[in-house]
Amino acid sequence: MDKMVIKGGRRLAGRVHVAGSKNAALPMQAASILASVGNIHLTNVPSLLDIKTMNQLLQFLNLTVTFDEEKHELLLDAQQRVASEAPFEYVDEMRASLLVMGPLLARTGHAKVALPGGCAIGSRPIDLHIKGLIQLGATVQQQDGYIEARAERLVGKMIYLDFPSVGATESLMMTATLAQGITTIENAAREPEIVALANLLNKMGARVHGAGTEVIRIQGVNFLHGCDYELMPDRIEAGTFMIAAAVTNGDVIVENAIAAHNASLIAKLEEMGVTVIEQDDGIRVVGTAVLLPTTVKTMPYPGFPTDLQPQMSVLQLLANGTSTLDEQIFEKRFMHLEELRRMNAKFQISGPVAVLSGPTKFSEAEVTASDLRAGAALVLAGLAADGITQVRNVSEIDRGYDQFQEKLHALGAKIDRIDIADKIKLSPNHRTGETN
Ligand code: EPU
Repeated sequence: MDKMVIKGGRRLAGRVHVAGSKNAALPMQAASILASVGNIHLTNVPSLLDIKTMNQLLQFLNLTVTFDEEKHELLLDAQQRVASEAPFEYVDEMRASLLVMGPLLARTGHAKVALPGGCAIGSRPIDLHIKGLIQLGATVQQQDGYIEARAERLVGKMIYLDFPSVGATESLMMTATLAQGITTIENAAREPEIVALANLLNKMGARVHGAGTEVIRIQGVNFLHGCDYELMPDRIEAGTFMIAAAVTNGDVIVENAIAAHNASLIAKLEEMGVTVIEQDDGIRVVGTAVLLPTTVKTMPYPGFPTDLQPQMSVLQLLANGTSTLDEQIFEKRFMHLEELRRMNAKFQISGPVAVLSGPTKFSEAEVTASDLRAGAALVLAGLAADGITQVRNVSEIDRGYDQFQEKLHALGAKIDRIDIADKIKLSPNHRTGETN
């Protein structure tokens, strides 16, 4: 298992390019199952473990998948007969595998998908996905670790989501494209990834209106076809680099970052004294020597994203005074804080709220990434720490950050990756021994 080794204390400076959005790509890969005519051709697809896991699942389901990782182009062909069973090995690897359930049901009338187990960030039930499919006319059974849904025909319905779940909104939106009549999803998620998926579906011949608002209306059609679609930049990767710039009191231009997608983060950075400048080519973030404390509460979009909460906690811990962090989306997303404690962080957790005492002088330690965003947060803490930080379990980071280490290195960080045999995998232009 690889680890990342970071020698802290360097200001990040320069330009970094943001890859295509992972969480927009995954539902689009699943949506390709719906295209019975023509191919789906996605561009600006990030080269990530999760994208490859979804590709493997689609291949298992009998789709033809061609991924050119260099060109970031993905061609998905579902014109042949599609299988309808997604085994545990894929779902266990990645919960987003569940996104194939709705499209399989809509396309073949049958879907059997392994039930996801526990997760590092919370229990993550899927009741809203299931309730919605039942409302669209499916019979759903749960047995032997699988969920099996059948429907001879799906019929549009008004569906109210108890919570604006991203995955449930995506799943039901995809399923409803081939249902008879009109489906409305009330209290729908409003994330930019939802809007992107609706745009793709409409290019495939669907009739989806209102994505990005609380009510999405879908008029069913008889079939969907292939199309070309370019993925938007990843707002969580962009936000991570914006926070990294602030954590190191640096000066970084995050190329092609979309300010509107990270408005809540920009507001918090400015509150803390960080300068954020919107430019034609992206967002420039200039740090400050004295960070002010702030309160952060995660919420569904356009609220502060839970996927930036661990990284933001590092910045809050560096601030002069007491900050609070209120995690409202996932109940176990403070695992990184326990690791940061090993790097000298002082905090108290009470239910969903963490009270963080700054300013922290992060010290060197060996720490473990419990999930992908926790991993990114630990690397950020390492950038600010005195001495050498070692982050274990970095395959978690590979799930969601394309070339994370290389990009940080290009911005001036001293960071390396070491394999199990302690062989340094050189960063570009690396000088041997730089991290020591
Ligand atoms: N929820 C339910 N019932 C459901 C579905 C969700 O109670 O049927 C709850 C969850 O347990 C959770 C909350 O609703 O407490 C939010 O879950 P949501 O369904 O919105 O999340 P998701 O679709 O499973 C996506 C991202 C996550 C991101 C969340 C929240 C993808 C592939 N994943 O997950 O991304 O944290 O939305 O924004 O889009 C990541 O990239 O690191 C990541 C975890």
